[in-house]
Amino acid sequence: WSQTATKSDGVLSVGGVPLPELVREHGSPAYVLDEADFRARARAFRDAFSSYDVYYAGKAFLCTTVVRWLAEEGLSLDVCSGGELLVAERAGFPMERIGFHGNNKTLRELERAVELGVGRIIVDSFHEIERLTEVSRELGRTTGVMIRVTAGVEAHTHEYIATAHEDQKFGFSIASGDALRAVRLVHDAPSLHLLGLHSHIGSQIFDTSGFEVAARRVLALHATVSEEIGVEMPEMDLGGGFGIAYTTQDDPSDPAQLATEMSKIVEHECRALGVAEPRLSIEPGRAIVGPAMCTVYDVGTVKEVALDGGARRTYVSVDGGMSDNIRTALYDADYSATLASRASAAPPVLARIVGKHCEAGDIVVKDEFLPGDVRPGDLLAVPGTGAYCRSMASNYNHALRPPVIGVRDGKTFTVLRRETEADLLASDVGVS
Ligand code: LLP
Repeated sequence: WSQTATKSDGVLSVGGVPLPELVREHGSPAYVLDEADFRARARAFRDAFSSYDVYYAGKAFLCTTVVRWLAEEGLSLDVCSGGELLVAERAGFPMERIGFHGNNKTLRELERAVELGVGRIIVDSFHEIERLTEVSRELGRTTGVMIRVTAGVEAHTHEYIATAHEDQKFGFSIASGDALRAVRLVHDAPSLHLLGLHSHIGSQIFDTSGFEVAARRVLALHATVSEEIGVEMPEMDLGGGFGIAYTTQDDPSDPAQLATEMSKIVEHECRALGVAEPRLSIEPGRAIVGPAMCTVYDVGTVKEVALDGGARRTYVSVDGGMSDNIRTALYDADYSATLASRASAAPPVLARIVGKHCEAGDIVVKDEFLPGDVRPGDLLAVPGTGAYCRSMASNYNHALRPPVIGVRDGKTFTVLRRETEADLLASDVGVS
């Protein structure tokens, strides 16, 4: 839950706004974004990593409002598409504080980024180095470049979001020598300026040993570059991926502790390798925005089904689902939920909270104890939906994507409005 969430007489409030009131005003379902909480987490990272640059990973959740908050809080921004770059541009974010990621940026995206003067482009393939060299040369620019490397570690997280083992699409392998070859190419290209190495091992990671091993391997390559090519690269990025608590079982990462651990490793390794410490940066996304949002849903139907062995399961259907939170279906993610609109003394039942989409895998919360009298018209709130929920939302089954409603000091403000039927039909050219 975000830091301002409170419950009184069974009614959940966030940012001083009771959720039933928010739903009366803005409808359901809705994502609720706690401004104070978002800013506090952004600041906590910035303060803990005060000698680092903190690039907020926009893929977790991005809109112009959030970009402005980040600018005010002194963070930098990681984008991974022309669309994310567009939002940053619209919000007036300083381009030199942007890092541009992606394993297959289009020519147009590269041109745009170079034209706009994006501070660093993180290259991910030999084709891209060639393309960027050319684009930069043609535009008469010198582009800052970081090289995404694969450290060859197994991060302990879901297979789809682990990115540092060899057999996946991102980065230049350190082990195969590709990373060193990429460094040489960038260093030799007159239109590119070699800034440093970049490693991102995966997402929703709790065990910091993966970061440690990756940092050691990347620093070793950093030292090799200094020895063999004679350049001390000024920067290094250790990526994002810091885990958050989705249920009470998880132990979230603490920015201050992370900062201490990571700095210690880097300091120690650099001393051992005899190289100057590069300026470090990190890219947290989930750890900043994840806990700052919750989703509020309206209960539509409740159904009990008999399970093998005589047990029963209560299916509680809400007015959203996999179109606003795909993470349960895609990563088997765990979430929790709570009744947000009233108190209940009814004994709890084990419920499964499901959406309104046409498939059985449309589950929002796999297992949660809810009051046994849960019924249509109740509001349920699911915490921790700030990261990769709205940003991965779809119009599956022609659902309208829910709004993001900001809350602060007892007031609401619309950050992203609810989609309308007109939005839904806007790209359907057959509509006359
Ligand atoms: N930096 C890079 C290069 C990344 O690829 C990512 C995430 C991040 C930073 C931020 O990671 P974070 O701190 O947010 O964990 N859709 C998945 C997560 C995909 C992560 C993609 N890259 C999910 O819902 O869990």
